[in-house]
Amino acid sequence: MNIAVCSDHGGFDLKMKLIPFIEAMGHTVTDMGCYSELSVDYPDYAFPMAEAVARGGFDRGVAICGTGIGVSICCNKVAGIRCALCGDVLSAELTRRHNDSNVLAMGGRIIGVETAKAITKAWLDTAFDGGRHEGRIAKISEYEQDRE
Ligand code: RB5
Repeated sequence: MNIAVCSDHGGFDLKMKLIPFIEAMGHTVTDMGCYSELSVDYPDYAFPMAEAVARGGFDRGVAICGTGIGVSICCNKVAGIRCALCGDVLSAELTRRHNDSNVLAMGGRIIGVETAKAITKAWLDTAFDGGRHEGRIAKISEYEQDRE
């Protein structure tokens, strides 16, 4: 898959450790910033990355800030994005199976690198279950369309 990644300074270190891990899984990664540990504002990176995923430029996105909360708030304001903030592997698996999440958010100051790798692997490897969950996803899309 084509994966977009972004972070602010609080997620930079974890992002730089995850990029080679995701590439080693056979995916293509595009880093949409930030590009150093200098302090930046997470909306400046989360919105462009989420919009690129929503436009279809990427299959999925991974967004990281200090807690994962700021980037997840931004990403979920972009129509078509279903961003899941995950701190454990089971949530990562279930959000793919049930929510068909297309952006994964994590907190670089909250979880360790090995946990983040396990979460990312589960999230990238798990397919959407479909079935009864299709209608629920459709209701989210309808809500978005009603407000356009
Ligand atoms: C930056 O200090 C921090 O606020 C940010 O990375 C994130 O945790 C916000 O939700």
